[in-house]
Amino acid sequence: MTTAGTLPAPATFPPRPQMDTEALYAQAAADRLGFWAEQGRRLSWDKPFTTVLDDTESPFYRWFTDGTLNASANCLDRHVAAGRGDRVAYHWHGEEGETRTITYAALLEEVQRFANALKGLGVTAGDVVGIHLPMIPEAIVAMLACARIGALHNVVFGGFAPQAVGERMAACGAKALVTVDGARRKGRVTAVKQALEEVLETLPDLEHVVVVGAAEAPCPMRPGRDSWYAGLCAAADPECPAVPLPAEHPLFILYSSGSTAAPKGVVHTTGGYLTGVSYTHRVVFDLAPERDVWFCTADIGWITGHSYLVYGPLLNGVTSVLFEGAPDHPHKGVWWELVERYGVTQLYTAPTAIRAAMSWGEELPGRYDLSSLRLLGSCGEPIDPTAWHWYHRVIGGGRCPVVDTWWQTETGSIMIAPLPGATGTKPGSATRPLPGVSAELLDADGTPVTGGTGLLALTEPWPSMLRTLYGDDERYLVTYFSRFGKDTYLVGDAARLDEDGCFWILGRTDDVINVSGHRLSTAEVESAVAAHPAVADVAVVAIPDELTGQAVVAFVTPAGGRPGDAALETELRRHIAVRIGKLARPKRIVWAADLPKTRSGKIMRRLLRDLLTGQETGDVTTLGEPDVMAALTAAVTHPIH
Ligand code: WT7
Repeated sequence: MTTAGTLPAPATFPPRPQMDTEALYAQAAADRLGFWAEQGRRLSWDKPFTTVLDDTESPFYRWFTDGTLNASANCLDRHVAAGRGDRVAYHWHGEEGETRTITYAALLEEVQRFANALKGLGVTAGDVVGIHLPMIPEAIVAMLACARIGALHNVVFGGFAPQAVGERMAACGAKALVTVDGARRKGRVTAVKQALEEVLETLPDLEHVVVVGAAEAPCPMRPGRDSWYAGLCAAADPECPAVPLPAEHPLFILYSSGSTAAPKGVVHTTGGYLTGVSYTHRVVFDLAPERDVWFCTADIGWITGHSYLVYGPLLNGVTSVLFEGAPDHPHKGVWWELVERYGVTQLYTAPTAIRAAMSWGEELPGRYDLSSLRLLGSCGEPIDPTAWHWYHRVIGGGRCPVVDTWWQTETGSIMIAPLPGATGTKPGSATRPLPGVSAELLDADGTPVTGGTGLLALTEPWPSMLRTLYGDDERYLVTYFSRFGKDTYLVGDAARLDEDGCFWILGRTDDVINVSGHRLSTAEVESAVAAHPAVADVAVVAIPDELTGQAVVAFVTPAGGRPGDAALETELRRHIAVRIGKLARPKRIVWAADLPKTRSGKIMRRLLRDLLTGQETGDVTTLGEPDVMAALTAAVTHPIH
């Protein structure tokens, strides 16, 4: 990767008086905990905290421990109480162009009704409620209703297959699931609830299923277990006071892929998470609620949706665009149409979407008036300088700063990003850690390096950090804090630090694949493939891909010595879509009579990667069967079909 020079902060984007960014860096550096306490106090607390950080049992850090607050009250009630109930919270835009305008007051009323409905079903504080919904307002209502009564939400991305939904419900013992009759996608309807039926039967803890009627899809209902969302809300009392909860009360679980097949249940708690999200949303995107219209294109099922489509914008009292559809439906210019229609001022999306828009041509965005835009954000994977410049020039008209934001499901909120107006930007670099965040680059021994490449680590706790992995404190310790000790959070990314102190994220160092900004685990895909009776062995690797960043390639040894063929390939792709989701389908399947393994039987995925990217495979002396590579080279260069 090349280092472009630091660009000056664009002259058209002066720092706001209310945001003296240099002072923020200075203040945080001088008194980190005092800085975070001040950010925490921007929330409204039922009982103010006096302790900022309790690190006596690190790395099980606890923030703002003696304070109490409620997330939904912070997102809704306080804006309504301040006379801002008529402000639009969401401009919802449906697949077929239908619209719903939802004010803060209306959202508060619906949340209270649904919170009462959940209570009526017996859901209480500490219970887990699964949410498996498309991008409809009810998804946000369901999240906030849980938060209102202290139930934990566990949102599972709408694109996940029934089996993956079931696993994520079973792992957290969800008591209720909120889902939908049907989800619309590019003009087609999938009968979501119907497809879930079989899996629901296998969940002993699941007592209730609430179904949002959204698409008139066939939807069997089991009496006693299943109820319609609309009916429950209509019958519910419109008033449900928000419960004050301890700051460390868990707010939600979100499953993310790690380096083993079992997904990790990342746990975020109330006070710290909300503090991190509201602070970063305000300063990184320079939001002014009276004037700005925010458009985050992420799905609610990922952390970006949680932090910057739901909690961040609502905490800051901002108006957002919530778009149900795909970026190319009903046409490939639909996002730009929405920018023009709603006067979007800040757009936050992923590099993969920018690359797709690039491939569709700049003539499409050129048809719309994008002059309302003031700032552009990117997250999820490294943004290559070509895409960065295109985004800056074609979408931002050359006037909008591009903020490349680095963070993770585990960090809860943005960690490394430029502050618009203060930090100069460098295409391809997320630049510097935000005020309050301590990031370092370590060598293999854990010694900090001041330049060159190394392992990215976060060396001080921060309020929105994950607290544990649900039900598995040990895995939390081992995954993040075993290599360099309990004071050093190991990120799992490699990075380069340049002479200006800017970080360039190079990618994961574990077996995690990043497809279109979504995390998949090599092991998870492998175990799904291996579960198919026609498969004897499998190895999954990632290769660079122009559109999706990385793509999945599976090396498969068919069972019983039979050769692979097109029919088996189709079958395996279908099988993976059913087990995990379409996202995980391999771009390519290579039939391999044998896989390269060490003498102890460990698959050497590095060799497979080298093979696919046309690199010298180098040292193969540790291989149990060195001849394997010759056969594989032939299979890769001369596929059977
Ligand atoms: C992994 C986290 C950003 C939240 C959504 C994804 C990669 C994330 C960047 C960026 C380069 C990035 C990292 C990270 N990543 N943002 N700006 N530049 N890489 O959250 O699914 O938890 O994935 O995404 O590899 O570890 P996630």
